[in-house]
Amino acid sequence: MVNDIREVLLTKEEIEKLVKDLGARITEDYKGKNLFLITVLKGASVFMADLMRAIDLPCEIEFMVLSSYGSGTTSTGSVKIVKDIDLPLEGKDVLVVEDILDTGYTLDFLFNLLKKRNPNSVEICTLLDKPERRKVQVAAKYIGREIPDEFVVGYGLDYDEKYRNMPFIGILKPEVYSN
Ligand code: IMP
Ligand code: MG
Repeated sequence: MVNDIREVLLTKEEIEKLVKDLGARITEDYKGKNLFLITVLKGASVFMADLMRAIDLPCEIEFMVLSSYGSGTTSTGSVKIVKDIDLPLEGKDVLVVEDILDTGYTLDFLFNLLKKRNPNSVEICTLLDKPERRKVQVAAKYIGREIPDEFVVGYGLDYDEKYRNMPFIGILKPEVYSN
């Protein structure tokens, strides 16, 4: 696995620090609210597991499955719901937890979908942001780290369903996905 990595972008320790800081900010901002964390599987599951334990507030969690990518490295632009959430969102302060904001198609779709279900508020927390790649504008309130336009894996992020279990985030060698 590690042999396929060109460069480590975020070490395990750097990720821990980012998550701790995001958790502290969210704890501060959501005091007295009805925090409801919604995560998109599978990529953000690792981030979600750590982030929820860095938030010192009562909260609910839910998981959704969306599809936009197939097995390539660029978005197709058409997002579909594969698994929806069952719980109502009225009166909830929804925070969408995502691994990476790339073109923005996924989060734009999800944000608009959740808004229609009458929550108190909807905000976005993404661990990584690739601003150079944006196709649609998405306002993420919490961003762990901006990264360059490179395909990254690890800490939940995959290429063709692999590398999710690496504890750090690294840039994949282009030859891994070009052949
Ligand atoms: P968007 O709809 O283009 O913003 O794509 C968001 C989704 O694409 C993320 O949730 C990831 O699943 C996937 N994605 C985007 N960039 C990367 C990357 O560099 N590595 C792995 N997955 C990525
Ligand atoms: Mg994802």
